[in-house]
Amino acid sequence: MPLLARLHDQARRTLDPVHYDFFAGGAGQEAALSENERAFRRYALLPRVLRGSARRDLAVTLLGDRASMPVVVAPTAFHRLAHPEGERATARAAAAAGTVLIASMAATTAIGEVTAAARSVSADAAVWFQLYLQPDPEVTPALVRRAERAGCSALVVTADSPVFGRRERDRRNGFDDLPPGLAAENMRDLPGAPPGRPRAIGMSPALSWHDLDRLRRLTRLPIVLKGVLHPADVPLALDTGVDALIVSNHGGRQLDAAPATVAALPAIAEAAAGRLPLLLDGGVRRGSDVAVALALGATAVGIGRPVLWGLAAAGQAGVGQVLEALRDEFDHVLALCGGARPADLTRDQVTVRDPGGEPS
Ligand code: FNR
Repeated sequence: MPLLARLHDQARRTLDPVHYDFFAGGAGQEAALSENERAFRRYALLPRVLRGSARRDLAVTLLGDRASMPVVVAPTAFHRLAHPEGERATARAAAAAGTVLIASMAATTAIGEVTAAARSVSADAAVWFQLYLQPDPEVTPALVRRAERAGCSALVVTADSPVFGRRERDRRNGFDDLPPGLAAENMRDLPGAPPGRPRAIGMSPALSWHDLDRLRRLTRLPIVLKGVLHPADVPLALDTGVDALIVSNHGGRQLDAAPATVAALPAIAEAAAGRLPLLLDGGVRRGSDVAVALALGATAVGIGRPVLWGLAAAGQAGVGQVLEALRDEFDHVLALCGGARPADLTRDQVTVRDPGGEPS
């Protein structure tokens, strides 16, 4: 059994089933969730031959940060549900792998402690802060200052959650709050927070490009917009001074009718036309998935659940194993495709398998 599947299995056996469902589940019928992975299987890679790619360098630069490979850690909530060391373990593993950690605003460890854990491994570890713009106008600036003080090098604004997704597993399980002792630590001591307790994270369908524009004027940090699927949103993001996009459907946890992210990527890449870097997350499980996403126009990909499975199975070491397995697989696929660097993978190297020819 491949390493990722083994760690997933181990995580399933280790976790409280209610928490496993929280991590694994998606919205509605979980169509977007399963499509994300399935869509990658529809693509084939056309290798180039005899290109002299003996020395490969997998590193990419993302908004000025160096990532040792084009795989970063996507923001996911509540890591201490997966492992007692939670986000600290994830941060140390990402730093040890030399890649970017996108820390969730809904973390069970405060952002300052997450960056400290990353920097305990590597002084120049890159941590980006994922932000849900808050409907209360005083809260977002306070969170931004907190991320800046913690030394985060970018803000990742998640825009695919105007309302909370309907997660049927959580409804069925009655999972609507963290167990005693765990909290959304970034939400403490904010305007309007009850004394000694965190504020609830707000979501609002009233948020608009004006709110993003306000954020743009509030900080000098690069802004990454996460959850873009429609190409018409690309020029609006550019107009608002967004520095990068993440093509994402929130791992199938928001709009269940959303397309697989890899299916949405080509149109976004065409609209972006190289004017800003694109990342993609959703269903990336193999080195060849990374290669397909890069060939279709992404500079890097993010992984969500695989990190959680590694964390639940074996803490920092488990997350490290997930990252190193993907690095090794991607390097192997890159070599087989005749590439020496991630940017060597080009659009003409991806074809769609004929529907009858899909491997099972
Ligand atoms: C998420 N995701 C997410 N995104 C975000 O912007 N803020 C968050 O707090 C969370 N929390 C979260 C929790 C869990 C349990 C999951 C699985 C996902 C979405 C995440 O960043 C990413 O888009 C997906 O996880 C990518 O898909 P895969 O790799 O899980 O298939």
